[in-house]
Amino acid sequence: MTRSHVPPAHLHWLTPVYDILCSAMGLGRDFRKDIVRRLGLTGRERLLDAGCGTAALLESLLEAHPGLDAAGADPDAMALAIASEKLDRKGPRPRLELAPMDRLPFEEAWFDVVVSTLALHHVPRRARESSLRECSRVLKPGGRLVVADLVVSGAGPARWLLNVLALLEDMETDEGLMALLRSAGFRGARSCGRWNSLVAFYEAVKG
Ligand SMILES: C[S@@+](CC[C@H](N)C(=O)[O-])C[C@H]1O[C@@H](n2cnc3c(N)ncnc32)[C@H](O)[C@@H]1O
Repeated sequence: MTRSHVPPAHLHWLTPVYDILCSAMGLGRDFRKDIVRRLGLTGRERLLDAGCGTAALLESLLEAHPGLDAAGADPDAMALAIASEKLDRKGPRPRLELAPMDRLPFEEAWFDVVVSTLALHHVPRRARESSLRECSRVLKPGGRLVVADLVVSGAGPARWLLNVLALLEDMETDEGLMALLRSAGFRGARSCGRWNSLVAFYEAVKG
């Protein structure tokens, strides 16, 4: 781990139990199944999970689409070690790279889809636009970016709850994230639903 990033569960020593914590917060298997369904893949795409953490989503994606040409990147060495071990048990392992989202070691226009779940709020604010630009760089023209993250949005008690959570997590607002997507060069950025009251989904296309 370098000091330049926030680990999956904020504290380095919690990384081995990160998957269990996610399940306890309602962000386990059903959440990942919902993302797999939303992605609507044919199984023949090249896909990158940016900020893949322990690769729980990559594992679900490969279960649903064994032929998927998948890769993951994350700056946390311990999370990637867990990811490697998990994916090694499943057959040929996708390429996993130790890298932050603003320095993805992949060729330009390589991926059909980039997905990023619960990671953008861990990226330092100053690096968010450049990270989204980097996601755009590695996407083919017309390629899709799908983001699921903790975002202050909606109205009423849910927004109030999210504002409280934003005291602990450096979350974007709905408006802020849409503006970032646009300034990073994506077109057709849209918010496309939620998972429970915490996580919001966004989709955009490389312009
Ligand atoms: C809450 S975890 C989410 C992990 C995984 N995507 C998931 O949905 O379970 C946040 C992840 O963002 C990663 N992260 C922190 N800073 C980052 C950065 N600058 N670029 C990419 N990922 C980053 C952390 O290492 C961690 O794995």
